[in-house]
Amino acid sequence: MPFPLAVLVSGGGSNLQSILDKIEAGVIDAEVRVVLSNKPDAYGLVRARNRSVSTWSRPHTDFSSRQGFDAEMVRVINDHGISSGTGAVLLAGFMRMLTPEFLRAFPQAVVNIHPALLPSFPGTHGAADACDYGVRLAGCSVHFVDEIMDHGPVIIQAAVPALPGDDHEGLAARILKLEHCIYPQAVSWLAQGRLSVRDRHVHVQGAQPATCGQNALPYLASPGLEQDFLPKDA
Ligand code: GRF
Repeated sequence: MPFPLAVLVSGGGSNLQSILDKIEAGVIDAEVRVVLSNKPDAYGLVRARNRSVSTWSRPHTDFSSRQGFDAEMVRVINDHGISSGTGAVLLAGFMRMLTPEFLRAFPQAVVNIHPALLPSFPGTHGAADACDYGVRLAGCSVHFVDEIMDHGPVIIQAAVPALPGDDHEGLAARILKLEHCIYPQAVSWLAQGRLSVRDRHVHVQGAQPATCGQNALPYLASPGLEQDFLPKDA
C-alpha cells in the first residue's frame, strides 16, 4: 500500500505540488489522501483538486479554540486512514502552530519545511530574516515537528549562497527551488521507513554523503575561498 499522507497548507502549495509530482512520477511510493487548509482560498487546495485529491478547509476563526480546530483536523485526517502509526502529516506552508493534542495524535509523524537553516531564523519570515541579517549561506530545513516552533529534529538541510544585492524575494526564490528537492526527498525516506530519531538526531538509513550539485561535497564556503586558502585534501 502506498504510504498515506495528509498535507496541511495555508498558501500557494508549491511544496505540495513538488511532492504530488514525485508521487505521480513514481519516485515516491506514497499517496496524498487529503489536503487541509485554514484558508479556503489557498491555491494549494486547487493544486490538490487538480490531482483529484480530496480537500477540507475551514477558517480557523470558525472555531472558538485552537484545540477545537485541531481536533476537527485530526478527525478528518483519521477519516482518511492516517492515524498514530499509519502514514504521516506534512506541513507545507501551514501558518499555524499545532496543539500538543494534534501532535500526540500522530507521534513522530508530523513533518515541516522551513526556509532557513535551523536553528537560525525560526518563525514566519525565515528567508527574509536571513537576508536582512546578511548571512553568506542561506537554505532550508525539513524537520519533525514538536511543540516548539521550528524546533524538532532535523531530517535534511540544503544551503544556497546569499548573493550580493539579494532582496527578500530573490533569496526566497532560490531557497524555494531547493525546498522542492529536499521535501520530496525527506518524504521518500519517511515513506520507505528509513528515518529514526534518537536524542534529537535523525538517522537516515542508507543516506548518501552530502552532495554539491551532482558532486560529493567536501565543504561549502560563501564567498568562495581563494587558491591560497583552499583546504589541502578537499
Ligand atoms: C515555504 O517557503 C515553506 O518553507 C514555508 O512556507 C512556504 C510555503 O510555500 N513554510 P508553498 O506554499 O509551498 O509554495
